[in-house]
Amino acid sequence: MKICFIGTGYVGLVSGVLFADFGNKVICVDNNKKKIENLKKGIIPIFEPGLDELVIRNYKSKRLFFTSDINKAIKDSDIIFIAVGTPTAKDGVSADLKNVYAVAKIISKNINKYKIIITKSTVPVCTGDEVEKIIKKNNSISKFDVVSNPEFLREGEAIRDFRYPDRVVVGSNNLKKTKLVLEKLYEPITKKGAKFIATTRRSSELIKYAANAFLATKITFINEIANLCEVVGSNVDDIALGIGTDARIGSRFLRAGPAYGGSCFPKDTKALIKIGDKFKTDMTVVKTVIKSNEKRKSILADRIIEILGKPKNKKVGFLGVTFKANTDDMRDTQCLKIFPKLLKKGVKISYYDPTGEKKELKNLKYKKNSDEILINNDLVVIHTEWDEFRSLNFSKVKSKKLMIFDMRNLYQASSFSNKNIIYYSIGRSLNDKKA
Ligand code: UDX
Repeated sequence: MKICFIGTGYVGLVSGVLFADFGNKVICVDNNKKKIENLKKGIIPIFEPGLDELVIRNYKSKRLFFTSDINKAIKDSDIIFIAVGTPTAKDGVSADLKNVYAVAKIISKNINKYKIIITKSTVPVCTGDEVEKIIKKNNSISKFDVVSNPEFLREGEAIRDFRYPDRVVVGSNNLKKTKLVLEKLYEPITKKGAKFIATTRRSSELIKYAANAFLATKITFINEIANLCEVVGSNVDDIALGIGTDARIGSRFLRAGPAYGGSCFPKDTKALIKIGDKFKTDMTVVKTVIKSNEKRKSILADRIIEILGKPKNKKVGFLGVTFKANTDDMRDTQCLKIFPKLLKKGVKISYYDPTGEKKELKNLKYKKNSDEILINNDLVVIHTEWDEFRSLNFSKVKSKKLMIFDMRNLYQASSFSNKNIIYYSIGRSLNDKKA
């Protein structure tokens, strides 16, 4: 089966490369010529552990191709994945679908034989109907099917998530014709245990938004419980364990931290509300989740100010600035909302990130490693849970007192025998806060 992926962003590139790795011929298309030339040389546009080796290996084996010639790629393929970006639109809430519709128009002009067109981009319910309408303008319905097949991979874990997902979701209004093809395509994954869920196109589109909104809700819930733990003297790690072991709740995505961020949860929760509005359905829970998540960043900024006492001219060093570990992605990262509040109070901020200096933080001092953060500040904030922050070299802290605010609960207060260190964390009782 010849496959083509239109869009070599996170989802398109990772899925395309891995389908090639399963033995398919995959053409990855992008209108950014520079990106395509770089990919041919093995230069990867995103930070994703292990992806570069896979790209090089499959490109050399002639299973993976890169091109900007979208027309030829469509003509040469049996299955076409639309994996272009669906960012938040100018209204600040809806998903911007102009890329998806532009691709649908190009597809409509290049259908030379029966094709399955699959939206892998996260798209609001009913987008498939619109894509079908656009393609139908130039073609008969018997020549193509539009299928929804959302992707659930996480940044930083993308390769493992794609290879070993819990489920594969496929939505089609013509399952009789498309299901077998997709079952075959996903066989290397379902054989290892992933559930294959076949449903209608609209249900499949909604599954993706419901999943992201539910996970965002889980995180927001535990973060609110963490706030409560801090005042009543409980430990949020124990609460997460205590509720997460109940199979009805599940233990994952119950890590309290500095609010959720990233390219998906903030964008998709807002878009889900907009979908609800369109169909006159109030998404009260999701609205509250967004509000609570926004408030959390402000709560954490206030907490830093409280820890500092007199914040003016105090030095604060951040360890990690991306929205989570194993990514260089700064989209909707929590600290972007925390920094302005601190700067306003006269705090001097420096940061170190394993993925290097950030253009978004031009006005802040960048340090080359975590040691430089540990020795030069009044307060160190562990903002991101990179493995290298789990074993910081605290022996560097000798003379003056250092405060640590561990926003990811990587440490226990009891691990600090150095009396020069005062340790604060998230959702733990007052006794656990200070070493
Ligand atoms: C998410 C979804 O998990 C994935 O299925 C979807 O395809 C894309 O969106 P991603 O944004 O890459 O993936 O990261 P994820 O690991 O889900 O984390 C999102 C945010 O939630 C991060 O800021 C992370 O730090 C935070 N988080 C996650 C928590 O605070 N606690 C948790 O327990 C889990």
